Amino acid sequence: MATHLITGAGSGIGAVLAERLSERGDDVWLLARNAKRAAELRQRFPSAQTLVGDLGDPAKLSWALGQQTQPVELDSLLHVAGMVELGPVGETPVKAWNETLAVNLVAPAELTRLMLPQLRLSRGHVVFVNSGAGLAAHATWGSYAASKFGLRALADSLRAEEHAAGVRVTTVYPGRTATPMQEKVHRQEGTAYDPSRWIAPESVATAVLTAIDLPRDAELTDITVRPGR
Ligand SMILES: NC(=O)c1ccc[n+]([C@@H]2O[C@H](COP(=O)([O-])OP(=O)(O)OC[C@H]3O[C@@H](n4cnc5c(N)ncnc54)[C@H](OP(=O)(O)O)[C@@H]3O)[C@@H](O)[C@H]2O)c1
Repeated sequence: MATHLITGAGSGIGAVLAERLSERGDDVWLLARNAKRAAELRQRFPSAQTLVGDLGDPAKLSWALGQQTQPVELDSLLHVAGMVELGPVGETPVKAWNETLAVNLVAPAELTRLMLPQLRLSRGHVVFVNSGAGLAAHATWGSYAASKFGLRALADSLRAEEHAAGVRVTTVYPGRTATPMQEKVHRQEGTAYDPSRWIAPESVATAVLTAIDLPRDAELTDITVRPGR
């Protein structure tokens, strides 16, 4: 049975991944920001185990995970959690930069570092859910795009470093996807939210599962997912 650790399973893309992997009988671990969220996740996904760690405070992750039972081997580490705060550079305070870079970039790097021994044991797979904003940065998306450009660099360096150990690395770049994050983006943009216009989170989850289910002779390095019609 394969073992997976997923961040961001509380809603959107991560919740679909937790559901799909639990349904197929895999061993699923979910990282929640606090004990309350972890209890909610265990109620929603009864076969899953949880870890508590606030991705907004990456310096404490090592200590926090050290206090908890962790998976012994990991077939996949799925970095799905993320946050966005729109605003022009001229009006973005340091707090927003720090939070966005912590959750979207530094925490994935630290969590990967902490889980690498387990990933190497299983010749596992690391998936980073990035964004179209990780490939092109537009007005008011500065802090988010910077975090996602950095996430791409993290993935590319990790792939080059861990290839020999058999660890595969995939970046998925979704376009706008119908999740609570997209609802927030619409609120901040001041536009009406119509989820039917955007990618279903199920489709992004399918792209992630395609990458991790690919036979070992091949590695999907980068997957761009755009809204269809
Ligand atoms: N939706 C889009 O249009 C879109 C497009 C491109 C890329 N993406 C990327 O796709 C990924 C998933 O996004 P989504 O749309 O599914 O978003 P979402 O529905 O807002 O879910 C985000 C998840 O991240 C978790 N999270 C946020 N901050 C955290 C923290 N400090 N510690 C632990 N967990 C934290 C949230 O936990 P709580 O449940 O506790 O809040 C939630 O489970 C993100 O990386 C996002 O950047 C989304």
